[in-house]
Amino acid sequence: MFVHRRRGWEIKESAATPEWAYLNRRQLALGLAAGSIIAFAGRALGGDEADPSAGLYPAANNDRYVLDRPLTDEEITARYNNFYEFGSHKEIWERAQELKVRPWSVLVDGLVEAEQTIAIDDLFAKIRFEERLYRHRCVEAWSMTVPWTGFPLADLVALAKPLASAKYVVFQTFMDPDIAPGQRQSWYPWPYTEVVTIAEATNELAFLVTGAYGKPMAKQFGAPLRLHLPWKYGFKSIKSIVRVTFAEERPKTYWETLVPDEYGFWANVNPEVSHPRWSQATERFLATGERLPTQLYNGYGEFVASLYTGLKNEPLFM
Ligand code: MTE
Repeated sequence: MFVHRRRGWEIKESAATPEWAYLNRRQLALGLAAGSIIAFAGRALGGDEADPSAGLYPAANNDRYVLDRPLTDEEITARYNNFYEFGSHKEIWERAQELKVRPWSVLVDGLVEAEQTIAIDDLFAKIRFEERLYRHRCVEAWSMTVPWTGFPLADLVALAKPLASAKYVVFQTFMDPDIAPGQRQSWYPWPYTEVVTIAEATNELAFLVTGAYGKPMAKQFGAPLRLHLPWKYGFKSIKSIVRVTFAEERPKTYWETLVPDEYGFWANVNPEVSHPRWSQATERFLATGERLPTQLYNGYGEFVASLYTGLKNEPLFM
């Protein structure tokens, strides 16, 4: 089946601009200064007012990815985070402001034509941003919906020019125990790492996130660059990436090293496969507090189920 993927410039202004951004613009038209709104949002939720990429937002919405539920407010998502580098609880957003997101660069290495260290703003200058409204399902049985801005991971794979022998893409988070108190806890296998197959990395859903809610994302979301894989449990969506390595062998991830019986490599969402300590049948939706039924591949099966057809003997859902 041919699916026409509309380009940003083909979308009407009302469709391209989510309601929250549209309302902000209306407020501007009513005489409120842009700076004061952004500065307020920055102070309240931990955004970086001086972010040099701020002018790239908001990006056009890609309406191929639709939600079946309302968006979760930033007031909620920016104050309820998993970012173990800053603590193994949800209230890390203030501590995460210690993270310095400039200068920032990403090392692309391993099985590539040429190793590169790319300054984050040079990377942003090479690619086209778009906004996607995605569901996020944490392995802890809560979920949220976020308007992420970013670009397909496939674009980074293309820039990296991997060799034919590369089978996996390995991501690594920053390592700086001076600012990240969690990293002083030596029983965790720092730095945080995650791994996907090349086929997963080049699937259209795999998204590198740079912003949220129409602006550079707040630090607690994993600024300045994080992954979002909406069909997998949230721990695969690694934050604050500093290194992307192409490999032939699959290294163990942070969570596989720490608790191999509970957090596996594939981690695809499946309501019928329970976590060893709790059911995955339902999820608490952060926007409304309702319990909703969890969907296979978090509802994204039409995009990703074919990735796994030949892998029936693998533990695809843990
Ligand atoms: N990335 C890093 N580096 N450190 C983390 O602790 N937590 C993961 C994932 N990425 C985590 C991470 C988990 S368990 C989830 S559910 C999501 O980030 C949470 O993303 P959020 O805080 O934006 O909701």
